[in-house]
Amino acid sequence: MIILRSRAEIEKIRNACRIVSDILLRIGESVQPGITTWDLNALSEELAREKGAKPAFMGYHGYPYALCTSVNEQVVHGMPSKHRRLIEGDILSLDFGVVVDGYYGDAAVTVPVGSISAEAARLCEVTRESLYRGISKAISGSHLSDISHAIQEYVESRGFTVVREFVGHGIGQHLHESPQIPNYGPPGKGVRLKPGMVLAIEPMINYGAPDVEIMDDNWTAVTLDRSLSAHFEHTIAVTEDGPEILTLR
Ligand code: MF3
Ligand code: CO
Repeated sequence: MIILRSRAEIEKIRNACRIVSDILLRIGESVQPGITTWDLNALSEELAREKGAKPAFMGYHGYPYALCTSVNEQVVHGMPSKHRRLIEGDILSLDFGVVVDGYYGDAAVTVPVGSISAEAARLCEVTRESLYRGISKAISGSHLSDISHAIQEYVESRGFTVVREFVGHGIGQHLHESPQIPNYGPPGKGVRLKPGMVLAIEPMINYGAPDVEIMDDNWTAVTLDRSLSAHFEHTIAVTEDGPEILTLR
């Protein structure tokens, strides 16, 4: 069952989402060669506290940090570490969520550390664009898998691959609600989208093969071939007037 949110509820989700996007922007601005992923996590916690928001990931299935920091071949759920000092040329996926007044927001971006290779920049740009292509299909009356298909078609046309093991999700009074939103699949399948649905769409895109494995920490997902991976995510609402991005800055 997919919950349809009232205007008042969407306002609460929007409030959480605004805090998420503000904080992600601030963290992104702090990313530079020499900083550790630990420092970025500490900053995210401090900013959340300042804004009266609770980090959504901390404690979720036992995840111990506020922020996910996935570097280079790390796909998602990279754990902040005092020993992970970023260097020029890295790409860093930052994934962050908060809960405020019982409602959640969730977003992710991949940012460059200093100057990066043309290949890495292209992967990030294609991943970002694939998210927007998916969002553009989040229209009342469309099928859920129209989002999935738009992402896959665009990504593969550019020579990159879609991670299968992780999906986007409904969001609202929980971080993860129904439905699951794969980033691949045929068009025209699944439920029909309706105004009031709130979705977190989050393509994870690899430079090489789509396969991933989980490291010994039981969280960090990495590409099996150790090629680069990028991740972008927005929380959006389906409205009468089309998709509205709630985590947009
Ligand atoms: N954006 C990710 C997701 O929706 C972040 C979850 S990290 C976790 O799954 F630690 F909370 F699992
Ligand atoms: Co998410």
